[in-house]
Amino acid sequence: MTINTNAPEYVKNQKLIQWVADIAALTKPDKIRWCDGSQAEYDEFCELLVSAGVFKRLNPAKRKNAFLALSDPDDVARVEDRTFICSANKDDAGPTNNWVEPSEMRATLQPLFDGCMRGRTMYVVPFSMGPIGSPIAHIGVELSDSPYVAINMRLMTRMGKAVIDQLGATGEFVPCIHTVGKPLVAGEKDVAWPNNKTKYIVHYPETREIWSFGSGYGGNALLGKKCFALRIASNMGRDQGWLAEHMLILGVTSPEGKKYHIAAAFPSACGKTNFSMMIPPKGFEGWKVTTVGDDIAWIKPRKDSVTGKTRLFAINPESGYFGVAPGTNRQTNPNCLDSLNQDVIFTNVGLTDDGDVWWEGLTDTPPAHLIDWQGKDWTPADGAAGRKAAHPNSRFTVAATNNPAVDPNWDNPEGVAIDAFLFGGRRSNTVPLVSEARDWVEGVYMAATMGSETTAAITGQVGVVRRDPFAMIAFAGYNMSDYFQHWLNIGSKLAAEGAVLPKIYCVNWFRKDENGRFVWPGFGENMRVLSWILGRAEGTAKGKETVFGICPEHADMHWNGLDYSTDKFEKAIMVAVDDWKSELKLHSELFEHLGERLPKELIEARSKIEKRLNA
Ligand code: GTP
Ligand code: SPV
Ligand code: MN
Repeated sequence: MTINTNAPEYVKNQKLIQWVADIAALTKPDKIRWCDGSQAEYDEFCELLVSAGVFKRLNPAKRKNAFLALSDPDDVARVEDRTFICSANKDDAGPTNNWVEPSEMRATLQPLFDGCMRGRTMYVVPFSMGPIGSPIAHIGVELSDSPYVAINMRLMTRMGKAVIDQLGATGEFVPCIHTVGKPLVAGEKDVAWPNNKTKYIVHYPETREIWSFGSGYGGNALLGKKCFALRIASNMGRDQGWLAEHMLILGVTSPEGKKYHIAAAFPSACGKTNFSMMIPPKGFEGWKVTTVGDDIAWIKPRKDSVTGKTRLFAINPESGYFGVAPGTNRQTNPNCLDSLNQDVIFTNVGLTDDGDVWWEGLTDTPPAHLIDWQGKDWTPADGAAGRKAAHPNSRFTVAATNNPAVDPNWDNPEGVAIDAFLFGGRRSNTVPLVSEARDWVEGVYMAATMGSETTAAITGQVGVVRRDPFAMIAFAGYNMSDYFQHWLNIGSKLAAEGAVLPKIYCVNWFRKDENGRFVWPGFGENMRVLSWILGRAEGTAKGKETVFGICPEHADMHWNGLDYSTDKFEKAIMVAVDDWKSELKLHSELFEHLGERLPKELIEARSKIEKRLNA
C-alpha cells in the first residue's frame, strides 16, 4: 500500500517523504500534518489542546497567550531506567548506559509502534538544532502524535518550512519518532498524555535514529533536546572532532567593555538556567551577563579570524528554554520571571483562582487557594502538610527571545569563543565553592569524577550523591570512558596546534552548614566566583594550591556589596583532607565501574591527588 503523506509542494526531499510514508504505514495515524512553524499553526494547536482539555488558557490580563498543561502524574520527568543506547556492540554503550542489542530492541518496539497512532494525527516536525544553515547546526525531523510536542518544539528549536527549505532535495536529517503510545478510540478527544506504563526512549547511535514510546514529558518527548542534541550528537561529535555538552553558555561583559564567554555543565536542576540569566549583584555595577544558552552547547574548534589562533566556539543548538519552575522568583532570577510574562507553556505548576500560575518559591506567601498540579484543591495547609502545589520538576517552555538578557550573539551561526569551562554538582559537603584545574588533564579529571545529589528532574530517589561525569551520566550516547578520551584528545590535539584552550574550573553553589543551610548565597552572588575566574584568565587574581586544584582565599575575591566574613568563606571554600580521602574512594569506585577503557591519564591524575593527600 502506498501512503499519501500529504507532503506540501515545497517538500523536495524524497528520502524524507518516503520515511514519513514508512512510519505512517507502521503507526497508522488518521491524518498527517506537516508543520510549517507559523504563528497561525501554533495558535491553532493551542486552541486544539484547549478544546481537548489538555491546555488551560491563563488569564490574559496576567499572562498573554500563556497556557497550563497538567500531565499524567506518572509522566513528569526523564525516565533513565527506560532510556536505551542500542549500539551494535555492548561495550560501545558502556557500563553507564542501558543497552539492548539493536535487532532485539527493534523486535520489541515493532508491535508497540504498530498502529500506535490510530485515530490520531501524526505531526511532521522539521527542526534545526542551531541557527539554520550554521556550520555547527544539524537538522532533525520528529514524527509525533502529540500536538503538545509540536508546539513545544516550535519554542525550543527552529522549526518548520525554513528547515525543509534548508534540507533541500538531498540534505541529511536525524529521524526521530515519538508516540504517546495510546491509540485513540472513536469519540475520544485528542489527548497529549499517555496513560500506560510502558516507556521506551531508544537511541540507535550507528544509524542515528531515535524512537520514543509512551511519554509526553520534555526530555523523553521533545526529541531535539537530550535525545538528539546530546545522546546522538555526542556520537557525531566523537566521530567528527567536536563536543556536544550539557552546558549553559553565557556572555559576561566588564565595565570596560571586554567580553568573555563561559560554558558550564551542572547536572539537571542544579542551576544552569539560573546561572545563564544571572544579574550581577551590588558591587558589580557596570558588569553585564547575557544568555547564549541555558542547557546544551555544541562546541567546535575553529581559527579565530581576529587572532588567527584556534579556539573552541560554541553555539546553543536550542532556541528556547525548558526550565524548572519551582524556586524561580523575582529576587533570585528576575530575568527569568520577565521571560514568563507572555507566550509561555507551563507544565505541572499550580493554577490560582485568578487564572495565573504559582509554584513553591515564587512568593513567600502562597495563595489562599489554588488547583494543584494534579488538578486538586490546594491550600497552604496542604503545603504545610508536605503536599506540593507544583510538581518539583514542573517546567516552563519559552522562546529565548523572551529573555531580556538574551545575548546579541545567541543566534550567531559562528558561535562564541569559550574562555572557561565550569563543572559543578550539588554537594552539601566536601567540594569547594570554586577550584581551578592546574591543566587540561586535571580539569578532565575533575569533570569526570564530579558527584551530585539527585534531583526531581529524573524519576527515582532525590538527594543521593551519585557520580555524574561532566553532568553527562544520562546523556553521553556512548561509552563514558571513550567520552573522557575524546575530551583528552581534543585537549592534546589543540594544544599541539598552539590553540588557546579554556581553563577548567570546578564549582559548588550548594554546600551546607551544620544546620543544613546553604553556606553560599548563590544566584547573582555567583558573579563573585565568575569574577575570580575572569581575574585568573587575565592573570590578576591570586589563588592557593590545594589537593584539589587552586582555590581563592578570602582576600582574592571581590566583596563589595556583600558582607561575607572569612569564617563563612572558609566553610564554602574549605578542602578538608579527611573528606577528600573519602571522596577519592568514590572516584575509585567510579573508575572500577567504568572498567577497562578508562584513560590511564585519569588514573595518573588520581595518583597525583592521592600523593598530595598523603603528603
Ligand atoms: P535542568 O533544566 O534540569 O537542566 O536544570 P538547570 O541546571 O537549568 O537548573 P535551574 O537553573 O533550573 O535550577 C534548579 C534549581 O536550583 C532551582 O530551584 C533553583 O532555584 C536552584 N538554584 C539555582 N542556582 C542556585 C544557586 O546558586 N544556589 C542555590 N542554593 N540554588 C540554586
Ligand atoms: C534536564 O533534565 O536536564 C532538563 C529537562 O533539562 S529535560 O528536557 O527533561 O531533559
Ligand atoms: Mn538539562
